[in-house]
Amino acid sequence: MNAAFLSEIAMKTIAQQSQRMIIAHRGYRARYPENTLVAFKAAKDLGVRMIELDVCLTRDRNIVAIHDETLDRTTNGSGPVRDHTLEELKKLDAGRWFSPFFTGEKIPTLKDVFSLCNHKLSVNIEIKHEAFESHDPDDSIEKQVVQTVLERSRSEAVIISSFEPRIIERLAKMQIKNLRLAFLTEKRFLDDAILEFMIKNKVFSWNPDYPALTPDQIKAAQAQGIKVMTYTVNKASTGKRCFDMGVDGIFTDEPLLF
Ligand code: G3P
Ligand code: CA
Repeated sequence: MNAAFLSEIAMKTIAQQSQRMIIAHRGYRARYPENTLVAFKAAKDLGVRMIELDVCLTRDRNIVAIHDETLDRTTNGSGPVRDHTLEELKKLDAGRWFSPFFTGEKIPTLKDVFSLCNHKLSVNIEIKHEAFESHDPDDSIEKQVVQTVLERSRSEAVIISSFEPRIIERLAKMQIKNLRLAFLTEKRFLDDAILEFMIKNKVFSWNPDYPALTPDQIKAAQAQGIKVMTYTVNKASTGKRCFDMGVDGIFTDEPLLF
């Protein structure tokens, strides 16, 4: 192999890597307590370009990062998150369940996360479906998330995702310039209804779980200008299979694998 050929391969590999999105799922979740500032900082220090977090509302309508509807699995509290005020939640420990080493980690607010990112890290904010309120109050989670993004970040550095189609519709109706939306699905093939929904709401990406993905579905979404980013990929061999099929990005608990 001559030097020019090797250099061409190297350039191609670098180009592929720069196009592939590796998203740190709930922060650097494999080694840190999920959805905490220490997990997001660890992902940032690893050099990933985007983190993912889950958000919902507190009783006094602040936005906090936590995956489950209840506090029991990832904190020393219990019961529904939405039954607690931010002040109550800030007293809880969100690190010790993972390891005593992380005792003292707190549940962060969305604003805390943007302060940590400091414009150097893109963010995928997943609005949990439980946070949807059909009466659409002035301080709905969708409106508050958008307002926080506009105040604390740049819309092009953010993706807002949800499994809840009504949340996506509501965000799309706001017509925020450059704001990217992603529709999450689980155990579903890309049928006409999903594709039409995503086209109508001008989503940036379709984010399905990887087991049901096929090259044809990926091509069908991409043919409409919709990127495909799949979750949650925690094996190098699975990541290779997904990228070989043509996905644009993966969510992973262990970004070092990729
Ligand atoms: O955004 C991908 C992934 O986070 C969706 O599933 O349950 O981990 O929030 P889950
Ligand atoms: Ca999530």
